Amino acid sequence: MLTDRFGRTIEYLRLSVTDRCDLRCTYCIPKGFKDFEEPENWLTFDEIERVVAAFVRLGTRRVRLTGGEPLLRRNLPQLAARLSALDGLDDLSLTTNATQLSRHAEALFQGGVNRLNISLDSLKRECMHEITGRDSLPQIMEGLKAAKAVGFAPIKINMVAMKDVNESEIESMAAFCIEQGFVLRLIEAMPMGETGQSAHYLDLQPVLDNLRRTFDLVPQAETLGGGPARYWKTRDNAFSLGVITPISQHFCATCNRLRLSVDGTLYMCLGQEERFELRPLLRAGISDAGLEDAIRAAIELKPEKHEFREKPTKILRFMSMTGG
Ligand code: GTP
Ligand code: 5AD
Ligand code: SF4
Repeated sequence: MLTDRFGRTIEYLRLSVTDRCDLRCTYCIPKGFKDFEEPENWLTFDEIERVVAAFVRLGTRRVRLTGGEPLLRRNLPQLAARLSALDGLDDLSLTTNATQLSRHAEALFQGGVNRLNISLDSLKRECMHEITGRDSLPQIMEGLKAAKAVGFAPIKINMVAMKDVNESEIESMAAFCIEQGFVLRLIEAMPMGETGQSAHYLDLQPVLDNLRRTFDLVPQAETLGGGPARYWKTRDNAFSLGVITPISQHFCATCNRLRLSVDGTLYMCLGQEERFELRPLLRAGISDAGLEDAIRAAIELKPEKHEFREKPTKILRFMSMTGG
């Protein structure tokens, strides 16, 4: 079991398989950004499998595939199948923007991905164009349809709630999710890189109060997944709402995760700089025992909490590098 200096058990690995994306969401990656990782620095599937297997031996039970946009990594369903076959891994999930999902949903499902989180900030075509940098909504809707048809359940919709951008659409998004049988998760935008998101920061506490009244929501004891969302539900259990509030009410005391980026860097916290490079060790032929020792040493670096509030300009890397 991996335990950090603050007594937190680390059992969830977020694995970024690419830093590239076919969209340019305003809060994630700036238009014109080109400084992507070189392919020779990408961990290979063999290297990824080795690292994940080491984490699993150390008690990791959950892996989430992220990006950038993970479906841009060629043959991702094959990687999923290799990871889901690891003895001891109980939960293999994926966070995607869904633009390529209609082509890959079946193979992902067959490959053992058991949960899907899908980014969708608006149901208005123009608004999605503004947020994502291109006319992405029709393709995303196709992706959602395919995911549902293949049998993914529950499907969670990630909506980054932004003042003056999509704030007015929160209720209609909830209605859409109720109709489709999706879980809705509202997310407070975090200041990563120079995306200027602080201007659109929306405190979700009053939003939640309103939604609780409108949809008569009650707290949901069961958490859906391994992440930081707190959940509410309708009394008939037909709809669940999760809120992710890194800024207004952070959840660092229960953090259970690390991030591995495509170049083999372990990031200890989304909102801090502590990191540990695994790629040089892997390429120097480190043993399995040595790899486990390296991971244990890395855990010692995990900081107590992020400082998005205190130091909103601190983290210069964009979200696309570490995958959220
Ligand atoms: P499950 O609960 O397992 O379904 O997944 P998740 O909510 O952890 O993953 P997802 O990729 O859908 O992330 C949803 C939002 O939570 C994104 O905005 C992430 O950036 C944010 N998030 C996930 N983990 C952390 C974390 O450790 N710290 C902070 N500050 N935000 C996080
Ligand atoms: N703040 C909060 N959430 C973000 N995401 C991307 N960038 C940010 C940000 N700056 C979300 C995406 C995706 C998830 C992985 O992270 O919407 O759903
Ligand atoms: Fe791409 Fe996701 Fe970042 Fe949007 S949030 S630019 S879909 S990686």
